[in-house]
Amino acid sequence: MTKEMKEAAVHALENEMLVGGESVLKFEEDFAKYIGTDYAVSTNSGSSALLLAFNGINTKNGDNVVAPSATFIATINGACILGAKPLFCEIDNDYVISPEQLESILNKNEVKCVIPVHLYGHPCDMSSIKDTAEMKNVILIEDAAQAHGAQHLNKKVGSMGEAGIFSFYPTKNMTVGGDGGMITTNSKRIYESVFKMRDVGRKTKNTHDEIGYTLRLNSVNASIGKVQLKYLDSWNEKRRIIAMRYQKKLEGVGDLILPPNDETYSKSVYHMYVIRTKKRNLLGTWLSKNGISTGVHYPLPVHRQPAYRKFAKNILMTFTDEWSRTVLSIPIHPNLNSQDQKFIINIISRFFDERLYQQKELQDEERLWTARLI
Ligand SMILES: Cc1ncc(COP(=O)(O)O)c(C=O)c1O
Repeated sequence: MTKEMKEAAVHALENEMLVGGESVLKFEEDFAKYIGTDYAVSTNSGSSALLLAFNGINTKNGDNVVAPSATFIATINGACILGAKPLFCEIDNDYVISPEQLESILNKNEVKCVIPVHLYGHPCDMSSIKDTAEMKNVILIEDAAQAHGAQHLNKKVGSMGEAGIFSFYPTKNMTVGGDGGMITTNSKRIYESVFKMRDVGRKTKNTHDEIGYTLRLNSVNASIGKVQLKYLDSWNEKRRIIAMRYQKKLEGVGDLILPPNDETYSKSVYHMYVIRTKKRNLLGTWLSKNGISTGVHYPLPVHRQPAYRKFAKNILMTFTDEWSRTVLSIPIHPNLNSQDQKFIINIISRFFDERLYQQKELQDEERLWTARLI
């Protein structure tokens, strides 16, 4: 939170309505312009944005919705809260929904909606996914919660489906200084639906023509988001430089599998830098011992979550399962300096070069590190 962001927050507190202030409107206008959509509607979280978007396309009891299982659980919660049934789709080596698998699911099922996730900031192959969805008359909602500013064919993610959703949770590439979210769309119908439903189904101040929710973003948060948005591109550029350095220096180290490189038509914003190794838990333990924090996104795929087991009785998701056992997110953020990054690279390289994974002491500590994952 810079001085500029704090001043914007104080200004909103002192001068605006705390709910529905002018910062909300301005943030939405700026965000729609940035993503390249006609409309943007803010919400109090990415999960709320998902719920409203699914509701906006009239998702109802018994509808089939296709989603990757390799994602954060919120991707599909909104649809299932409305009564939909999830159909889980495998991911490819780039950790986003596989267009071939998607086609196969759509050939076998009647599907209402597909929700590709631009996981870790890496854009999905939206052209193929869109072609397939259009052929089968299926609605596309993009989960861009982790990918503010990522591009596919010079279009920003969140502008290519019927609607896109974003999260401003504090770890994301930009935040509003707390929870927040946004729905982007070119559809006037969806815009009107989400606008009304986030505000108690209100038509005018005292007349409600829908049974709605209260899922609005506060003015103070919007004022911070508006300032953060100005810096998003430069922060994303810094993330990309850091990611390129990792790509160069970690290539060929141990059994590491690195994230996919950008194709000429795609631009990742590296919300996370995620490596894969069969020794994931030992490497995480070793890094932690050396003061380097890591994350696992995600140790349980959605189809293995207790809340979703009833939908996933006979499904086989071999690659997704392997993904969840091997992924490790290593530090990436705009303020990671090259000295710290060099240290991280050196510690990772030593783990493999000096076979430190064979140390008995490390193996004992691994149990504690692993227990924290679930
Ligand atoms: C892929 C994905 N979808 C949806 C969400 C939900 O956003 P929020 O946490 O703002 O509700 C998140 C947030 O972590 C996410 O990573």
